[in-house]
Amino acid sequence: MDRHRWLPSPAPRGVAGMPAPPLEVVMARLAAAGCVAADEEAVELLAATGGDGPALEAALRRRVAGEPLAWITGTVRFCGHDVRVDPGVYVPRPQTEELAGRAADLLRSLGAGARAVDLCTGAGAVAIHCMAAVPAVLVVGVDCDPRAARCARRNGVRTVVGDLGASLAARCADVVTAVSPYVPTAALAYLPADVQRHEPRTALDGGADGLDVVRRVVADAARLLRPGGWLLAELGADQDVLLHPFLEEHGFGTVTPWRDGEGDLRGVSARAAGR
Ligand SMILES: C[S@@+](CC[C@H](N)C(=O)[O-])C[C@H]1O[C@@H](n2cnc3c(N)ncnc32)[C@H](O)[C@@H]1O
Repeated sequence: MDRHRWLPSPAPRGVAGMPAPPLEVVMARLAAAGCVAADEEAVELLAATGGDGPALEAALRRRVAGEPLAWITGTVRFCGHDVRVDPGVYVPRPQTEELAGRAADLLRSLGAGARAVDLCTGAGAVAIHCMAAVPAVLVVGVDCDPRAARCARRNGVRTVVGDLGASLAARCADVVTAVSPYVPTAALAYLPADVQRHEPRTALDGGADGLDVVRRVVADAARLLRPGGWLLAELGADQDVLLHPFLEEHGFGTVTPWRDGEGDLRGVSARAAGR
């Protein structure tokens, strides 16, 4: 008897030079793995692998195992820009586009010569949008993760590796943006399983009430901002209420939260005293 009959069949592999399977087949595999936007992801994976069977098979296996799509295709769309996202780097989310748009509007109103610091820049998505929207401004990104800083630099953002604004001079910025970790530690368990398994915890974990890093952002922004400068920080749940007294203690006024179409808090802008 042929003993190989009793061994499990090898997983299907693409054969070098073989064309990729049709869109419907790719969609079906993604849907079976629980991908909610299987149709869009199938199109992206086929495009990223250029119709090459083995490359598509390798990409599909990574995706089915839960890796973020952007790590596999290498990019994500953000505010109309293709942002490079290297494996291991937090994937910019659509909900952050509002913060990026608000920061760009502020910089546009300040005009040429305005300066912005994007704390916790990750792949640099917010900075990329500000630089593209207002080319005459200087934007500097900071991230504590060297992989993220390298990725942001590859995206054309001047980026330093550092702990928030520690390495930057006082009064160097008109606008400080920050999508820092703000998920309360206990709520990490409710994030999608793939996010928990793959995305870096240092990008997400904000401590007991989610505001450990955000409070440090506020303190740093108070030092980095010129009089009358603006802080824009991404938040969730009711964190604006918790943060308000802390913003006031650090000299911020004109505190304005913003919400998405479903009424959920997405962030807050606050103006430094002095102008
Ligand atoms: C939620 S991600 C946001 C990335 C990016 N701003 C975006 O929207 O795509 C948070 C980022 O903050 C960085 N980070 C966490 N703590 C930091 C710290 N103390 N100093 C600088 N960066 C930090 C993480 O490495 C991660 O890249």
